Amino acid sequence: RSKRPAGAPDRKLARPVTKVGVVGAGLMAGQLALLFARQLKVPVVLTDIDQARVNKGVNYVHAEVDKLLARKRISADAANRTKALVSGSVSKEAFADADFVIEAVFEELNVKKQVFAELEAVVSEDCILATNTSSLSVTAMAADLKHPERLVGFHFFNPVAVMPLLEIVRAPHTDDAVLATAFDLARTLKKTGVLVKDAAAFVVNRILLRLMGEVTAAFDEGTPADVADTALKPMGLPMTPFTLLAMVGLPVAQHVQESLHAAFGDRFPVSANLHKLIDNGVKGLWEEGPDGSRSIPESTLSL
Ligand code: 3HC
Repeated sequence: RSKRPAGAPDRKLARPVTKVGVVGAGLMAGQLALLFARQLKVPVVLTDIDQARVNKGVNYVHAEVDKLLARKRISADAANRTKALVSGSVSKEAFADADFVIEAVFEELNVKKQVFAELEAVVSEDCILATNTSSLSVTAMAADLKHPERLVGFHFFNPVAVMPLLEIVRAPHTDDAVLATAFDLARTLKKTGVLVKDAAAFVVNRILLRLMGEVTAAFDEGTPADVADTALKPMGLPMTPFTLLAMVGLPVAQHVQESLHAAFGDRFPVSANLHKLIDNGVKGLWEEGPDGSRSIPESTLSL
Protein backbone atom coordinates (compact mmCIF):
# COMPACT_ATOMS: atom_id res chain seq x y z
CA ARG A 1 0.00 0.00 0.00
CA SER A 2 1.48 3.34 -0.99
CA LYS A 3 1.78 6.09 1.58
CA ARG A 4 -0.78 8.89 1.50
CA PRO A 5 0.90 12.16 0.36
CA ALA A 6 1.19 14.81 3.10
CA GLY A 7 -2.06 16.77 3.36
CA ALA A 8 -4.00 14.49 1.01
CA PRO A 9 -7.44 13.45 2.25
CA ASP A 10 -8.47 9.77 2.37
CA ARG A 11 -8.44 8.29 -1.17
CA LYS A 12 -11.87 6.80 -0.54
CA LEU A 13 -13.30 10.31 -0.92
CA ALA A 14 -12.00 10.60 -4.51
CA ARG A 15 -14.64 10.83 -7.23
CA PRO A 16 -14.39 9.07 -10.60
CA VAL A 17 -13.34 11.18 -13.58
CA THR A 18 -14.83 9.91 -16.84
CA LYS A 19 -14.52 12.99 -19.03
CA VAL A 20 -12.04 15.85 -18.90
CA GLY A 21 -12.30 19.37 -20.27
CA VAL A 22 -9.32 21.60 -21.05
CA VAL A 23 -9.92 25.32 -21.51
CA GLY A 24 -7.41 26.79 -23.94
CA ALA A 25 -5.75 25.01 -26.82
CA GLY A 26 -2.27 26.53 -26.51
CA LEU A 27 0.95 24.68 -25.84
CA MET A 28 0.26 23.90 -22.17
CA ALA A 29 -3.37 22.93 -22.85
CA GLY A 30 -2.34 20.61 -25.69
CA GLN A 31 0.20 18.90 -23.44
CA LEU A 32 -2.47 18.47 -20.74
CA ALA A 33 -4.98 17.01 -23.19
CA LEU A 34 -2.40 14.50 -24.37
CA LEU A 35 -1.49 13.49 -20.82
CA PHE A 36 -5.10 13.00 -19.71
CA ALA A 37 -6.05 11.03 -22.82
CA ARG A 38 -2.94 8.85 -22.64
CA GLN A 39 -2.85 8.10 -18.93
CA LEU A 40 -6.46 8.47 -17.76
CA LYS A 41 -7.83 7.02 -21.01
CA VAL A 42 -11.04 9.06 -20.94
CA PRO A 43 -12.50 11.49 -23.51
CA VAL A 44 -10.84 14.90 -23.38
CA VAL A 45 -12.32 17.97 -25.00
CA LEU A 46 -10.32 21.14 -25.67
CA THR A 47 -11.95 24.53 -26.15
CA ASP A 48 -10.61 27.87 -27.31
CA ILE A 49 -11.98 31.14 -28.63
CA ASP A 50 -11.97 30.19 -32.31
CA GLN A 51 -11.94 27.10 -34.51
CA ALA A 52 -8.41 27.73 -35.81
CA ARG A 53 -6.99 27.63 -32.27
CA VAL A 54 -9.06 24.55 -31.42
CA ASN A 55 -7.79 22.75 -34.54
CA LYS A 56 -4.23 23.71 -33.69
CA GLY A 57 -4.61 22.20 -30.20
CA VAL A 58 -6.08 18.93 -31.49
CA ASN A 59 -3.49 18.73 -34.28
CA TYR A 60 -0.72 19.23 -31.73
CA VAL A 61 -1.96 16.22 -29.76
CA HIS A 62 -2.17 14.08 -32.90
CA ALA A 63 1.35 15.10 -33.96
CA GLU A 64 2.77 14.28 -30.50
CA VAL A 65 1.07 10.87 -30.58
CA ASP A 66 2.59 10.24 -34.03
CA LYS A 67 6.03 11.12 -32.63
CA LEU A 68 5.55 8.66 -29.75
CA LEU A 69 4.50 5.99 -32.23
CA ALA A 70 7.47 6.67 -34.52
CA ARG A 71 9.79 6.32 -31.49
CA LYS A 72 7.99 3.07 -30.52
CA ARG A 73 6.98 4.57 -27.16
CA ILE A 74 3.37 3.48 -27.70
CA SER A 75 1.64 0.78 -29.75
CA ALA A 76 -0.39 1.57 -32.88
CA ASP A 77 -3.54 0.62 -30.92
CA ALA A 78 -2.74 2.98 -28.07
CA ALA A 79 -1.91 5.75 -30.57
CA ASN A 80 -5.26 5.39 -32.33
CA ARG A 81 -7.14 5.16 -29.03
CA THR A 82 -5.41 8.27 -27.65
CA LYS A 83 -6.12 10.29 -30.79
CA ALA A 84 -9.76 9.24 -30.82
CA LEU A 85 -10.18 10.38 -27.20
CA VAL A 86 -9.22 13.99 -27.94
CA SER A 87 -11.71 16.35 -29.56
CA GLY A 88 -12.14 20.11 -29.77
CA SER A 89 -14.95 22.63 -29.60
CA VAL A 90 -15.40 26.39 -29.62
CA SER A 91 -18.22 26.04 -27.10
CA LYS A 92 -17.87 25.40 -23.39
CA GLU A 93 -21.20 23.52 -23.68
CA ALA A 94 -18.95 20.61 -24.61
CA PHE A 95 -18.08 20.42 -20.90
CA ALA A 96 -21.69 19.76 -19.81
CA ASP A 97 -20.92 16.11 -19.01
CA ALA A 98 -17.30 16.54 -17.87
CA ASP A 99 -16.28 15.66 -14.31
CA PHE A 100 -13.05 17.63 -14.30
CA VAL A 101 -12.27 20.82 -16.24
CA ILE A 102 -8.84 22.43 -16.10
CA GLU A 103 -8.04 25.85 -17.46
CA ALA A 104 -4.72 26.74 -19.08
CA VAL A 105 -5.52 30.17 -20.46
CA PHE A 106 -3.67 33.50 -20.32
CA GLU A 107 -2.04 34.24 -16.92
CA GLU A 108 -4.32 37.10 -15.91
CA LEU A 109 -6.56 36.86 -12.87
CA ASN A 110 -9.58 38.50 -14.51
CA VAL A 111 -9.31 36.30 -17.59
CA LYS A 112 -9.27 33.19 -15.38
CA LYS A 113 -12.18 34.45 -13.26
CA GLN A 114 -14.20 35.09 -16.41
CA VAL A 115 -13.45 31.55 -17.64
CA PHE A 116 -14.63 30.06 -14.34
CA ALA A 117 -17.81 32.16 -14.36
CA GLU A 118 -18.59 30.86 -17.86
CA LEU A 119 -17.78 27.31 -16.79
CA GLU A 120 -20.09 27.42 -13.79
CA ALA A 121 -22.95 28.26 -16.15
CA VAL A 122 -22.49 25.03 -18.15
CA VAL A 123 -20.87 22.32 -16.03
CA SER A 124 -22.70 19.82 -13.84
CA GLU A 125 -23.17 20.28 -10.10
CA ASP A 126 -20.36 17.82 -9.28
CA CYS A 127 -17.83 18.96 -11.86
CA ILE A 128 -14.43 19.81 -10.39
CA LEU A 129 -12.74 22.97 -11.68
CA ALA A 130 -8.96 23.22 -11.74
CA THR A 131 -6.46 25.90 -12.63
CA ASN A 132 -3.00 25.32 -14.05
CA THR A 133 -1.92 28.82 -13.00
CA SER A 134 1.84 29.29 -12.59
CA SER A 135 1.71 32.02 -10.00
CA LEU A 136 -1.72 33.53 -9.40
CA SER A 137 -3.80 33.16 -6.24
CA VAL A 138 -6.22 30.23 -6.37
CA THR A 139 -8.07 31.80 -3.44
CA ALA A 140 -8.68 34.96 -5.52
CA MET A 141 -9.92 32.83 -8.42
CA ALA A 142 -12.42 31.11 -6.13
CA ALA A 143 -13.70 34.37 -4.61
CA ASP A 144 -16.63 34.94 -6.99
CA LEU A 145 -17.51 31.32 -7.72
CA LYS A 146 -20.98 30.06 -6.84
CA HIS A 147 -19.28 26.87 -5.63
CA PRO A 148 -15.79 27.81 -4.45
CA GLU A 149 -15.48 24.36 -2.85
CA ARG A 150 -15.04 22.80 -6.30
CA LEU A 151 -11.89 24.74 -7.28
CA VAL A 152 -8.39 23.34 -6.88
CA GLY A 153 -4.95 24.37 -8.15
CA PHE A 154 -3.35 21.73 -10.39
CA HIS A 155 -0.01 23.09 -11.57
CA PHE A 156 2.06 21.14 -14.12
CA PHE A 157 5.59 21.79 -15.36
CA ASN A 158 7.04 21.94 -18.85
CA PRO A 159 7.44 19.57 -20.61
CA VAL A 160 4.32 18.04 -19.07
CA ALA A 161 5.01 14.58 -20.46
CA VAL A 162 8.28 14.20 -18.58
CA MET A 163 8.28 16.49 -15.53
CA PRO A 164 7.19 14.33 -12.59
CA LEU A 165 5.93 16.95 -10.13
CA LEU A 166 2.41 18.32 -9.82
CA GLU A 167 1.71 21.13 -7.35
CA ILE A 168 -1.78 20.75 -5.88
CA VAL A 169 -3.17 23.90 -4.30
CA ARG A 170 -5.94 23.96 -1.74
CA ALA A 171 -7.94 27.20 -1.54
CA PRO A 172 -9.73 27.95 1.77
CA HIS A 173 -13.02 26.43 0.56
CA THR A 174 -11.68 23.49 -1.44
CA ASP A 175 -13.71 20.41 -0.53
CA ASP A 176 -11.96 17.27 0.78
CA ALA A 177 -13.51 15.16 -1.99
CA VAL A 178 -12.18 17.60 -4.60
CA LEU A 179 -8.70 17.49 -3.09
CA ALA A 180 -8.81 13.69 -2.80
CA THR A 181 -9.81 13.49 -6.49
CA ALA A 182 -6.91 15.78 -7.41
CA PHE A 183 -4.42 13.50 -5.62
CA ASP A 184 -6.02 10.41 -7.15
CA LEU A 185 -5.77 11.95 -10.63
CA ALA A 186 -2.11 12.82 -10.00
CA ARG A 187 -1.42 9.12 -9.30
CA THR A 188 -3.24 7.98 -12.43
CA LEU A 189 -1.36 10.56 -14.48
CA LYS A 190 1.85 9.13 -12.98
CA LYS A 191 2.77 12.42 -11.36
CA THR A 192 3.95 13.09 -7.83
CA GLY A 193 1.24 15.29 -6.36
CA VAL A 194 2.39 17.58 -3.54
CA LEU A 195 0.18 19.90 -1.53
CA VAL A 196 1.54 23.45 -1.62
CA LYS A 197 0.44 26.65 0.06
CA ASP A 198 -1.56 29.12 -2.01
CA ALA A 199 1.27 31.68 -2.10
CA ALA A 200 2.67 33.64 -5.07
CA ALA A 201 4.17 31.16 -7.58
CA PHE A 202 3.72 28.31 -5.05
CA VAL A 203 7.01 26.47 -4.40
CA VAL A 204 8.89 25.44 -7.55
CA ASN A 205 8.53 28.65 -9.55
CA ARG A 206 9.38 30.69 -6.47
CA ILE A 207 12.68 28.86 -6.05
CA LEU A 208 13.43 28.71 -9.77
CA LEU A 209 12.76 32.42 -10.21
CA ARG A 210 15.50 33.38 -7.73
CA LEU A 211 17.97 31.96 -10.28
CA MET A 212 16.07 33.25 -13.30
CA GLY A 213 15.81 36.72 -11.74
CA GLU A 214 19.62 36.96 -11.60
CA VAL A 215 19.97 35.56 -15.13
CA THR A 216 17.54 38.08 -16.59
CA ALA A 217 19.09 40.90 -14.50
CA ALA A 218 22.49 40.06 -16.05
CA PHE A 219 20.78 40.07 -19.46
CA ASP A 220 19.24 43.47 -18.70
CA GLU A 221 22.72 44.75 -17.80
CA GLY A 222 24.02 43.69 -21.22
CA THR A 223 25.18 40.08 -20.89
CA PRO A 224 23.95 38.42 -24.10
CA ALA A 225 21.65 35.44 -23.72
CA ASP A 226 24.05 33.03 -25.38
CA VAL A 227 26.89 34.10 -23.05
CA ALA A 228 24.76 33.44 -19.98
CA ASP A 229 23.70 30.07 -21.39
CA THR A 230 27.24 29.05 -22.36
CA ALA A 231 28.56 30.15 -18.97
CA LEU A 232 26.00 28.07 -17.12
CA LYS A 233 26.20 24.97 -19.32
CA PRO A 234 28.81 23.13 -17.22
CA MET A 235 26.91 23.78 -13.98
CA GLY A 236 24.84 20.62 -14.25
CA LEU A 237 21.47 22.24 -14.88
CA PRO A 238 19.13 20.00 -16.90
CA MET A 239 18.55 22.91 -19.26
CA THR A 240 20.33 26.27 -19.55
CA PRO A 241 18.31 29.29 -18.36
CA PHE A 242 17.45 30.91 -21.67
CA THR A 243 16.53 27.57 -23.23
CA LEU A 244 14.21 27.05 -20.27
CA LEU A 245 12.75 30.56 -20.69
CA ALA A 246 12.11 29.89 -24.37
CA MET A 247 10.42 26.58 -23.56
CA VAL A 248 8.21 28.04 -20.83
CA GLY A 249 7.41 31.08 -23.00
CA LEU A 250 8.30 34.69 -22.31
CA PRO A 251 4.80 35.93 -21.41
CA VAL A 252 4.44 33.18 -18.79
CA ALA A 253 7.92 33.92 -17.41
CA GLN A 254 7.08 37.59 -17.19
CA HIS A 255 3.81 36.92 -15.36
CA VAL A 256 5.60 34.74 -12.82
CA GLN A 257 8.23 37.46 -12.29
CA GLU A 258 5.50 40.06 -11.81
CA SER A 259 3.54 37.93 -9.32
CA LEU A 260 6.66 37.28 -7.27
CA HIS A 261 7.74 40.92 -7.42
CA ALA A 262 4.29 42.00 -6.21
CA ALA A 263 4.47 39.54 -3.31
CA PHE A 264 8.12 39.78 -2.27
CA GLY A 265 9.52 43.02 -3.78
CA ASP A 266 13.13 43.41 -4.90
CA ARG A 267 14.14 39.82 -4.11
CA PHE A 268 12.34 39.08 -7.39
CA PRO A 269 13.23 41.63 -10.08
CA VAL A 270 11.12 41.94 -13.21
CA SER A 271 13.28 42.02 -16.32
CA ALA A 272 12.88 45.17 -18.41
CA ASN A 273 14.09 43.34 -21.50
CA LEU A 274 11.70 40.42 -21.24
CA HIS A 275 9.01 43.04 -21.31
CA LYS A 276 10.52 44.61 -24.43
CA LEU A 277 10.85 41.25 -26.12
CA ILE A 278 7.19 40.53 -25.49
CA ASP A 279 6.13 43.97 -26.73
CA ASN A 280 8.10 43.28 -29.89
CA GLY A 281 6.20 40.06 -30.36
CA VAL A 282 9.21 37.80 -29.79
CA LYS A 283 7.63 34.66 -28.37
CA GLY A 284 10.76 32.66 -27.69
CA LEU A 285 14.40 33.57 -27.39
CA TRP A 286 15.48 30.75 -29.63
CA GLU A 287 14.78 29.98 -33.24
CA GLU A 288 14.60 26.30 -34.07
CA GLY A 289 16.24 25.10 -37.30
CA PRO A 290 14.86 22.28 -39.48
CA ASP A 291 17.37 19.88 -37.88
CA GLY A 292 16.18 20.78 -34.36
CA SER A 293 19.22 22.98 -33.64
CA ARG A 294 18.59 26.21 -31.74
CA SER A 295 20.04 29.66 -32.34
CA ILE A 296 19.38 33.08 -30.87
CA PRO A 297 17.82 35.47 -33.39
CA GLU A 298 19.67 38.75 -34.05
CA SER A 299 16.68 40.75 -32.80
CA THR A 300 17.13 39.19 -29.37
CA LEU A 301 20.80 40.05 -29.11
CA SER A 302 20.57 43.67 -30.24
CA LEU A 303 18.19 45.11 -27.70
N1 3HC B 1 7.84 16.90 -24.79
C1 3HC B 1 7.75 15.59 -24.55
N2 3HC B 1 8.80 14.82 -24.19
C2 3HC B 1 9.99 15.43 -24.10
C3 3HC B 1 10.17 16.80 -24.37
C4 3HC B 1 9.03 17.55 -24.73
N3 3HC B 1 9.08 18.85 -24.97
N4 3HC B 1 11.47 17.10 -24.20
C5 3HC B 1 12.09 15.96 -23.85
N5 3HC B 1 11.20 14.97 -23.78
C6 3HC B 1 11.45 13.57 -23.46
C7 3HC B 1 12.33 12.91 -24.49
O1 3HC B 1 11.56 12.43 -25.57
C8 3HC B 1 12.95 11.78 -23.70
O2 3HC B 1 12.00 10.73 -23.58
P1 3HC B 1 12.45 9.19 -23.72
O3 3HC B 1 13.39 8.95 -22.58
O4 3HC B 1 11.17 8.44 -23.60
O5 3HC B 1 13.11 9.10 -25.07
C9 3HC B 1 13.12 12.41 -22.29
O6 3HC B 1 12.21 13.51 -22.23
C10 3HC B 1 14.52 12.91 -22.04
O7 3HC B 1 14.84 13.81 -23.10
P2 3HC B 1 16.29 14.03 -23.68
O8 3HC B 1 17.14 12.82 -23.39
O9 3HC B 1 16.19 14.49 -25.09
O10 3HC B 1 16.82 15.33 -22.97
P3 3HC B 1 17.24 15.63 -21.48
O11 3HC B 1 17.87 14.48 -20.81
O12 3HC B 1 17.97 16.90 -21.59
O13 3HC B 1 15.86 15.92 -20.72
C11 3HC B 1 14.28 17.53 -19.99
C12 3HC B 1 14.93 16.84 -21.21
C13 3HC B 1 13.63 16.48 -19.10
C14 3HC B 1 13.24 18.47 -20.56
C15 3HC B 1 15.39 18.29 -19.19
O14 3HC B 1 16.11 19.11 -20.06
C16 3HC B 1 14.82 19.11 -18.06
O15 3HC B 1 14.48 18.60 -17.01
N6 3HC B 1 14.75 20.44 -18.27
C17 3HC B 1 14.27 21.37 -17.22
C18 3HC B 1 12.79 21.46 -17.32
C19 3HC B 1 12.24 22.35 -16.24
O16 3HC B 1 12.91 22.90 -15.38
N7 3HC B 1 10.91 22.52 -16.28
C20 3HC B 1 10.21 23.39 -15.35
C21 3HC B 1 10.01 24.70 -15.99
S1 3HC B 1 9.03 25.77 -14.97
C22 3HC B 1 7.44 25.44 -15.42
O17 3HC B 1 7.15 24.73 -16.34
C23 3HC B 1 6.38 26.03 -14.55
C24 3HC B 1 5.49 26.93 -15.31
O18 3HC B 1 4.52 27.38 -14.40
C25 3HC B 1 6.21 28.13 -15.90
